[in-house]
Amino acid sequence: MINALFIGPGAIGSLLCWQWQTRLSPWVYPHRPDLTLPSDLVDGPNTHPLHWQLWPTDADFRRIDLVLVCCKANQVADAVTALLEPLSHATWLLTCNGLGAQQWLADQLPSQVLWGTTTEGARPLGDGRMQRSGTGQTLIGPAAAHSLSNRSFSLGQSLVTPAGPIPVDWHDDVLSTLWMKLAINAVINPVTAWHSLTNGELLASQWRAEIDALCAEISEVATACQQPLPDDLAQRVLTVAQQTATNHSSMRVDVDAGRANEIDFINGYLVRQGYEAGIKTPRLSHWHQRLVSLQPALT
Ligand code: PAF
Repeated sequence: MINALFIGPGAIGSLLCWQWQTRLSPWVYPHRPDLTLPSDLVDGPNTHPLHWQLWPTDADFRRIDLVLVCCKANQVADAVTALLEPLSHATWLLTCNGLGAQQWLADQLPSQVLWGTTTEGARPLGDGRMQRSGTGQTLIGPAAAHSLSNRSFSLGQSLVTPAGPIPVDWHDDVLSTLWMKLAINAVINPVTAWHSLTNGELLASQWRAEIDALCAEISEVATACQQPLPDDLAQRVLTVAQQTATNHSSMRVDVDAGRANEIDFINGYLVRQGYEAGIKTPRLSHWHQRLVSLQPALT
């Protein structure tokens, strides 16, 4: 049995534990002393117990084969830095939003890092259970610019077959999917977070000029990064806003809860890429600065 260590047992971690717990032994790294683990995953009328356990503090990390990093992009470096050396033999899978954290981890452990992305959703029910709140597409594949070792490739392949409850597919170019998600998040997330909107409220005509201006900047940066996006990007943003109309974006949820947000890995990433390519990004910078101003002070 594969020993897997989850870092960040939240919504995505719970979905992936449910997905793979018949094929691997799920352990959770206790990154803080008061960590509690979601007990069950509720999917429609069915409740599925999650079989993960806290990793004992005195256990030998050499027993771990796979590390699943399921925390937010802004937490990755703090959460994993001390584990890079003791888990340098393992295969790692990173599932966070945005861009920047993935490249950083892949550069630390070349040939051992898989990238993942999902449009599945889950949310805490407040009683220790997690509810699957949306079905979607989950992809895993090699990190851009790094080929995988044979061991990591085989382990990655074993995660996509046979099928579990969530459809998971192998994709040789997860980066292009991450760019598309980044583009949509860079519009929906900061505007809904700053103005306390539901995603669907972005469909009002008053936002159309802002959405178009952001999409134009994002497309120019993406093209300079050799990741061209579809010409109808603004329309695709509106489609996602429509499909998730009653949702609060993940950034709005973080801001409303007074937590750190992922803006540095979404709009901030695009602003930095634009700067390096000599592209002006006034609207992306505007939203980046606004959301940075909402980051809680470091304690
Ligand atoms: O970050 C999120 O909340 C989601 O990626 C999206 C697409 C904005 C829908 O809420």
